[in-house]
Amino acid sequence: MAIQKVGVVGCGLMGSGIAQVCAAAGFPTVVREVSGELVDKGLKGIEKNLSRLVEKGTITEVTKGEIRGRLKGTTSIEDLMNFDLIIEAIVEQLPAKRELFAALDKICPPSTIFASNTSSLTITEIATATKRPQRFVGLHFFNPVPVMKLVEVVRTIATDDAVYEEVAAFGAKLGKTAVRAKDSTGFIVNRLLVTYLLDAIRALEEGVGSIEDIDNSMKLGCGHPMGPLTLLDFVGLDTTYYISQIMFDEFKEKRFAAPPLLKRMVLAGWNGRKSGRGFYDYADPQKPKAMKC
Ligand code: CAA
Ligand code: NAD
Repeated sequence: MAIQKVGVVGCGLMGSGIAQVCAAAGFPTVVREVSGELVDKGLKGIEKNLSRLVEKGTITEVTKGEIRGRLKGTTSIEDLMNFDLIIEAIVEQLPAKRELFAALDKICPPSTIFASNTSSLTITEIATATKRPQRFVGLHFFNPVPVMKLVEVVRTIATDDAVYEEVAAFGAKLGKTAVRAKDSTGFIVNRLLVTYLLDAIRALEEGVGSIEDIDNSMKLGCGHPMGPLTLLDFVGLDTTYYISQIMFDEFKEKRFAAPPLLKRMVLAGWNGRKSGRGFYDYADPQKPKAMKC
């Protein structure tokens, strides 16, 4: 396989998970963040995950050391100069992603494949910030990346067949089931999931049920691992807000519009679990308490 070394951009919720699974699958991996503190925070999260796997006996201390040895953090974009595949997992905003890829396009060799983990942006629109749209794909992972078995591999009308197959094979090498999707906003999963999550917020706004009762209904009534409001906190309310705006802009359908409550929570900095507060307060992460909202 031509993909031997992987660069990841962004070491937040998704980038840290992506970097972890790449290194665990044997790929030397460098992950870039915007500050040293954020690099440290991301790598600490990975360290914690790996230690948990050692405690459970899933991997040995030696394997953990090998995975850590394959993983490096950086704040310098120049350190991403020499990779076969770059996976971007930064904030869900088009200008930021286009700016990043335009810069990467200048420093990476023409052979490097670019992939975006975007949830909802059009891959074609990100790819046209570069001179290599034929070597550009969507590689959409799911949160938490080390646990969720799926990756959506997204092709645009410009993606080269061989590049697409190479990236699909790479997804399988990470231990994921790679499903193939067209470059249609939200791909497969978010096309279906986002309206469900937004409807849960609308149900709360309309007083159909309390936060706990809405969550318990879908957990206990439908066998979902998490209720929708817990899942929203888990995904990130800021990220969900950006996704809903992008999907509404694309489809012009009310079902994709951000509910006013979501907008207000994001304005207040309640971004979900990662900020300590969303539909629940995570002061004690083991016992989240429903907020009044
Ligand atoms: N990182 C790594 N591993 C984690 C983890 C994390 N953040 N959180 C949990 N795990 C592991 C645990 O160590 C545990 O492993 P073992 O089974 O080997 O012991 C396993 O996952 C189960 O964890 P828990 O027992 O602590 O808790 P749980 O049974 O409630 O499972 C969960 C946690 C896997 C997150 C489960 O609640 C779940 O599947 N939730 C739904 C997640 C989901 O829908 N994700 C998709 C979001 S949408 C998206 O990602 C796309 C987008 O563009 C927005
Ligand atoms: P996050 O806010 O947890 O992390 C984003 C990170 O990117 C931040 O730490 C930020 O400092 C960093 N960043 C921003 N600009 C950067 C740059 N130029 N270079 C390096 N780092 C930079 O967000 P997230 O939840 O990890 O989402 C990242 C991407 O993954 C988004 O496109 C999102 O839509 C997508 N996604 C999110 C989920 C989810 O459940 N949260 C699931 C699948 C896909």
